[in-house]
Amino acid sequence: MSVLRSTLDPAGPDVAAARESMLAALEEIAAETAKAVAGGGEQAVARHQARGKMTARERIELLLDLDSPFLELAALAGYGSQFAVGGSVVAGIGVVSGVECLLVANDPTVKGGSSNPWSLRKTLRMHEIALANRLPLIALVESGGADLPTQKDVFIPGGAVFRDLTRLSAKGIPTIALVFGNSTAGGAYLPGMSDHVVMIEKRSKVFLAGPPLVKAATGEESDDESLGGAEMHARVSGLADHYAADEQDAIRIGRRIVARLNWRKKGPSPAPVLKPRFPAEDLLSIVPPGLRSPFDPREVIARIVDDSDFDEVKPLYGTSLVTGWARLHGYPVGILANAQGVLFSAEAQKAAQFIQLANRSHTPLLFLHNTTGYMVGREYEQGGIIKHGAMMINAVSNSTVPHISVLIGNSYGAGHYGMCGRAYEPRFVFSWPSARSAVMGAQQLADVTYLVSKASALARGKPFDEDGAQVVRTMIEQQITAESMPLVLSGMVYDDGIIDPRDTRDVLGVALSAIHSAPVEGTDAFGVFRM
Ligand code: COA
Repeated sequence: MSVLRSTLDPAGPDVAAARESMLAALEEIAAETAKAVAGGGEQAVARHQARGKMTARERIELLLDLDSPFLELAALAGYGSQFAVGGSVVAGIGVVSGVECLLVANDPTVKGGSSNPWSLRKTLRMHEIALANRLPLIALVESGGADLPTQKDVFIPGGAVFRDLTRLSAKGIPTIALVFGNSTAGGAYLPGMSDHVVMIEKRSKVFLAGPPLVKAATGEESDDESLGGAEMHARVSGLADHYAADEQDAIRIGRRIVARLNWRKKGPSPAPVLKPRFPAEDLLSIVPPGLRSPFDPREVIARIVDDSDFDEVKPLYGTSLVTGWARLHGYPVGILANAQGVLFSAEAQKAAQFIQLANRSHTPLLFLHNTTGYMVGREYEQGGIIKHGAMMINAVSNSTVPHISVLIGNSYGAGHYGMCGRAYEPRFVFSWPSARSAVMGAQQLADVTYLVSKASALARGKPFDEDGAQVVRTMIEQQITAESMPLVLSGMVYDDGIIDPRDTRDVLGVALSAIHSAPVEGTDAFGVFRM
C-alpha cells in the first residue's frame, strides 16, 4: 500500500482564497445549468403540461431505476450561442432495468424540440459515447425536426444521426425509440432506424410529410392519424412494435424492452470500493485562484482514488508529470497528472512509456490536465522536445485502453493534445470550473500578435501605430481569455460537462462503470516512435 499524504492546510489563507474563487465559479455555472433545466421557460412548460405531457426531465426520471444516479452530459451545450442553453436536448447516462444506457431526450418546450446546430452536435457526441462504450441508446422523441431558420447547418450533417443509429445496431448495441409526440419528415427515421419502437395512442405522429404537404405534393386529402398515428403504425404499417396507452405506459414498456435485452457488460468487474482518506470538500481549495501558481495534483488524486492509495511510477524522473496506478470506485486506472505545468522531454517520454504499460495491463487511463504546453526555447528544441512530444502524442493516439480527461487547470497548446484533449477521443472529458484551454495563454497570444504585426510593418517599411496596436493587443487578450473559459468550451460541446470538483470521484465512477460495458483491451500497435 502506498497511501498518499496531504500537506493541504485547511486553515491556511491560500486555501480560503482558492475555495472562495471556486465557489464563485460554481455559482455562475449553476445559474447557466438552471437555464437548461428550465427548458423553454415557464410559459412553454405550462403549455406543455396543460396538454397532459411530461417534460423531458420527468420522462427521464420515470424511465430510470428508482434512486439510481443519472450523469447528465453536455448540459450546457449551446451556451453563448443564439439558442437556449442545453441545445433543446437532455442527455446522459442512467440505469434502466439494471442496465446502464445512454438517454437522449428532445425537450419539446424549446422551439418544439427542433434540432439546432448545438442539438445536433450534442446528439452526435452522445452517439459517439454510446458506440465507444457499448451503451444501449434510448431516444425519447418529440421534435419539430430541423430548426428551419438554421437548416443549412443542420440538414446535411444531420444525416449522421440516422446513420449512427443503424451502425449502433450493426454493432449489436440496442437502439430504442420511445415516441412521445412529433417525429416527422427526417425525424421519422428516428423510429425508422431503431431496433425497438414504442408509440403512444393519439400522441405519436410519425410521417414523412404532414397533411398540408401531402395535399400540396399529391393532392391527397389526409389527416394526422391515418398518415402517421400510433394506432396506424401499430396495426397497419408495422413501424411501431408497441402501442402504449399513455406516456407512463410507454415508459413502462421501454423499461420492459431493456429488461429483455439480456444485456451483459463485457469489461472486467470492479474490486470492492474503498473511500478516499481525505474529504472531497477539500477539492474546492486546491486550485489557486486564476491558476497563478502550480499545485500538487497528488492532493487531487488523494481525494478521488480508492483508499487514497497510489503507486507512483518514475516519481524521481520527469517530475512535472505524475504517473501511477490506483483504483477508482473499484476500477483500476493509470493516472497521468501535470504537476509544474510545463511538459519537458523527460515528461513526454515518461508519459509514452506509461501509456504503453497501461496498454500491456489493459488499464484505463485518467488524464488530469494542468499544463501550459511543451517547453519552448533553444535548449529544449535542440534537446528534441518536438520528437518527444510527438512520442507522447503517438502513444495517446494509438492507445486502445479507454481514456478519460479532466481539465482541472490549464490545458494549453500541444500539451492539451498530449494529455488526450477532445480530438484524441477520450471516452469522456470533464472540466472543473477552474479549467482554461486555448492554443496558448491569452497574454502570450496577444503578445505574439502584437510582435508579428510590428515586425511585418517594419519589414515593409510602413509606419507602425503603437497606440492602435496596444488597443488591439488588449482586445485580443480579453477575447482569448473569454474563449478559454470552461463555460464557452462546454457550450461548444468540447467537453461532456463542467463538474463540481467535489463530484469528481463519483462522476468518474459512473463514467468508468459505463466504459466497462465494452471490453477493455490494450494494444502494442503504436506508430513508429521517433527516438
Ligand atoms: N424550426 C424552428 N422553430 C420551430 C420548429 C422548427 N422546425 N418547430 C417549431 N418551432 C418553434 C415555433 O416557431 C414556436 O416558436 P415560438 O415559441 O418562438 O413562437 C415554438 O417552436 C413552438 O411551436 P408550436 O408550433 O407553437 O408548438 P406545438 O407544440 O403546438 O407544435 C410542432 C410543435 C413541432 C408539432 C410544430 O411546431 C411543427 O409542426 N413544426 C414544424 C415541423 C416540421 O415540419 N419540421 C420540419 C422537419 S425537417
